[in-house]
Amino acid sequence: MARGKIAIIGSGLIGGSWAMIFVSRGYTVSVFDIDEKQLTAAKKNIPESLKRFESQGNLRGTLPVDEQIKLITFTNDLAECIKDAIYVQECVPEKLELKRKVFEDLDKLCTDEMILASSSSCIGSSQFNSGLKNAKNILIVHPVNPPYFVPLVEIIPSDQTDPEIVAKTRQLMEEVEQAPITLKKEISGFALNRIQYAILNECWHMVQSGLLSAEDIDRVMVNGLGMRYAFIGPLETMHLNAEGIVNYCDRYAASALKVSETFKPPPLYDIPTSKKLNEYFSQYIPLDKMDERRQWRDECLAKLAKLKKEIPK
Ligand SMILES: NC(=O)c1ccc[n+]([C@@H]2O[C@H](COP(=O)([O-])OP(=O)(O)OC[C@H]3O[C@@H](n4cnc5c(N)ncnc54)[C@H](O)[C@@H]3O)[C@@H](O)[C@H]2O)c1
Repeated sequence: MARGKIAIIGSGLIGGSWAMIFVSRGYTVSVFDIDEKQLTAAKKNIPESLKRFESQGNLRGTLPVDEQIKLITFTNDLAECIKDAIYVQECVPEKLELKRKVFEDLDKLCTDEMILASSSSCIGSSQFNSGLKNAKNILIVHPVNPPYFVPLVEIIPSDQTDPEIVAKTRQLMEEVEQAPITLKKEISGFALNRIQYAILNECWHMVQSGLLSAEDIDRVMVNGLGMRYAFIGPLETMHLNAEGIVNYCDRYAASALKVSETFKPPPLYDIPTSKKLNEYFSQYIPLDKMDERRQWRDECLAKLAKLKKEIPK
């Protein structure tokens, strides 16, 4: 796909991140919002973030920061935003009726070739594409926060999405150096949240039963599994932990099944356990220190992203 114009609908956290990702590879970006205050804030915050990333050595792409900033424009006119765009990334709040309204508006204004992607975290596009004449152009492209440093994007077509639109979207994501995965069809939670909830459910059971403290549970991931998962996934881990996957299954399938048979059904995130966890975390990270901690998290992820680029695969 030749460099072209990208339209971003919604200038909040995710819209701003997408804008910065696309300009890093030389795309022009038009950002639209219905809220003037949000648009004014984005006009200030996006260039400031890009300059901060540059000063920290974390700017993506090879274009100088001022060139990247110049590629972004802001508008309160949806038609102007998507005019001549090759790709539209919707980033409005996660409410079905809002997604439906935005895609109805886009459907009236878009061309036949325009890709219409939604950043939705859990609403599949089949929930808002019915009756739209361009339903074949609509799909979910779900990023992970903060998208500038965590490259995974989940591409989820509906049963109406044209396979060519899916292929072009994946190619575009590769080109802007995100890491796309493509689901064959919609499924509740997509891939990331299904895996995340499987982990969270077992963590919850362990706290609920008093088996482990919150501190020790998070340690399992931060100092154990997470260390290697940043570089090799769970399946490659199986492969490397034996002489290949078949050998792993020979050795460990029976014991893995024995452990898995002790798993409980999914827990309700109950109030007593949530209070117990909240007590621990509020002491460790009080509410007035949350932003500081989020910034620290993003800085760690930026350093990890840089390290992963430096290490040959
Ligand atoms: N925040 C995350 O961690 C995260 C991660 C992945 C995906 N997402 C998804 O991305 C989407 C956006 O989330 P966010 O966190 O950026 O939300 P946000 O609240 O930060 O930003 C939403 C923006 O959309 C604007 N908006 C509202 N209605 C609009 C309309 N009709 N037209 C144009 N703009 C409109 C708002 O003014 C606001 O600026 C959601 O679907 C969310 O589930 C969020």
